[in-house]
Amino acid sequence: MGMLITKHLGKVYGGNVSYQALSDIDLVIEKGEFVGIMGPSGSGKTTLLNLVSTIDSPTSGEVLINNENPHQLSSHKLALFRRRNLGFVFQDFNLLDTLTIGENIILPLTLDGISVKVMEDKLKQVADKLGITPILDKRTYEVSGGQRQRTAIARAIIHSPSLLLADEPTGNLDSKSSRDVMETMETINQTDGTTMMLVTHDALAASYCHRVVFIKDGRLFNEIHRGHNRQLFFQQIIDVLSLLGGNAHELSPLRVN
Ligand SMILES: Nc1ncnc2c1ncn2[C@@H]1O[C@H](COP(=O)(O)OP(=O)(O)OP(=O)(O)O)[C@@H](O)[C@H]1O
Ligand SMILES: [Mg+2]
Repeated sequence: MGMLITKHLGKVYGGNVSYQALSDIDLVIEKGEFVGIMGPSGSGKTTLLNLVSTIDSPTSGEVLINNENPHQLSSHKLALFRRRNLGFVFQDFNLLDTLTIGENIILPLTLDGISVKVMEDKLKQVADKLGITPILDKRTYEVSGGQRQRTAIARAIIHSPSLLLADEPTGNLDSKSSRDVMETMETINQTDGTTMMLVTHDALAASYCHRVVFIKDGRLFNEIHRGHNRQLFFQQIIDVLSLLGGNAHELSPLRVN
């Protein structure tokens, strides 16, 4: 029984010319699994993530999260469902510059009318976990990219979501910060048991996953599982990417370990 199941999931974008971006995706992600989604640019990765996160609606098939189809919920119930079950991390951090780091992190809780004391306790916990306690009073433009992304992760997990969805979270980071962010995500996955789905171009980031699913032209292409050796997994990911074509040149030569 997966915590996330997609059945024959498909998306056709409308407009002047309709475009089939995703076809017949059957995916099962177990509770506590950390799954990477890779594939060439335009293969449908973000589309898949947007359907799972309910940012966008499928044109065929269905999504089940904890046995519930969020796309069938009324907008009020959907808002509640998203707040309780899902966390989001994006490439460009999506932080508000007018707020401090700490204020950004507790923002989702303020929507739920939680008491200040409880919010402060949770903030302390999550900031400790992410190693950003010293910067809580700073503004977003006073901290590094890696710290910004760890802030975004803190905000995404402060309500203990069962599913954390990340689209290119290391896309704007150098290799050292990428590694920090991935190690943080790995730790959260291990200690909190948060199920994670990570869309990435970055083979190093993907090598932290338990399993990487590759898509090509909107269809499932292949998947590989990680054993005990992350280095070996990294190499296997590179091999599938070169088989897929198109992606290998995007990898920085610095990111080899
Ligand atoms: N709103 C939209 N309307 C029409 N076509 C779209 C829309 N969004 C995406 N597409 C098309 O659907 C296909 C898949 O796009 P998607 O953004 O899912 O790709 P991706 O795998 O995330 O690519 P990248 O690696 O570049 O982020 C692309 O051909 C894209 O041009
Ligand atoms: Mg994308």
